[in-house]
Amino acid sequence: MYIPPKPPLNVVVKIAAGGKGRREIEDNIRGYTAIREDGIGYVLPLIIEECNKGEFAAVVMEDLGDSFYDTALKHETPVELYKDLILAFRDLCIVTLKLDDESRRMLNEVKSNIKSKYEGVLKRRGFVDDRDVKLVDGLDTNALSPHYSAFGCYDFTPEDVFLRERNIKYPDPKSRVRGCPIISLAAFAGVSRDSYNLPGAREGYATMESFAVNEVGPIIGITEDHASALFNLGRAMQLSISSVYRVDKDMERAKEFGRMSIEHLEKASKFEAIERMRKEVRRS
Ligand SMILES: Nc1ncnc2c1ncn2[C@@H]1O[C@H](COP(=O)(O)OP(=O)(O)OP(=O)(O)O)[C@@H](O)[C@H]1O
Ligand SMILES: [Mg+2]
Repeated sequence: MYIPPKPPLNVVVKIAAGGKGRREIEDNIRGYTAIREDGIGYVLPLIIEECNKGEFAAVVMEDLGDSFYDTALKHETPVELYKDLILAFRDLCIVTLKLDDESRRMLNEVKSNIKSKYEGVLKRRGFVDDRDVKLVDGLDTNALSPHYSAFGCYDFTPEDVFLRERNIKYPDPKSRVRGCPIISLAAFAGVSRDSYNLPGAREGYATMESFAVNEVGPIIGITEDHASALFNLGRAMQLSISSVYRVDKDMERAKEFGRMSIEHLEKASKFEAIERMRKEVRRS
């Protein structure tokens, strides 16, 4: 029998002995399990080894080459990348769609994430005030939560996403990979355009926002206005994180991101207030 030689496979090794690094790899390994359980194992690179015992935690996986970020910098028509991304993302949403509580869980986390950024660094720096913190406190995540969830996480960003033959590859999941997909799209679009200023990101942002509102909204059973509010909420969170990240490096942009975060939060909050009133009227 003749067995042809296998082409060499480049691999990436992630390894850590302890602390935050180890916790992140443990999280990745839980994320891989969650992804496989959701029936979308094809978003993972070929995982050659997962190890989490004894001295260290490690993952050995296929090298996926250029990330979305690297590809966008080199591509002749980078706008096309965003179109490929939404096609692949739509399939992921449909395959993982489920009636459960994961969207609500994620929105509660989004709310507490924004609150901690506002109450901590952003308030100390004077980028937000008590009124803004109150606005976050007042958000009724029950009124905002879709009943359906699908593939979704907040750290869906261009350097962690790879496009391969029109599929998304996502090698760095945290332990939870279900939630509200619109939050992921808002994070990706916002980081690509406002944080990285990637080629094609202006148009790419518009493509992703309209996809989130007009296509993902109906898939997860919500109106366009509702989907738009969730996109704004995702942006409010992403901008608050981006603002905190820049506070000591680029004060002006940090301030600008803080201001933009509030603008998006106000939009989300307006929809939420109307929704809450609607519910009260229906109950009375
Ligand atoms: N399988 C892979 N193939 C190619 N590149 C990869 C692969 N896995 C990770 N990378 C690249 O290495 C970078 C860092 O890896 P990863 O995100 O998994 O580690 P991390 O410790 O979570 O880092 P960070 O905190 O920056 O997200 C990624 O942003 C990605 O661009
Ligand atoms: Mg990462």
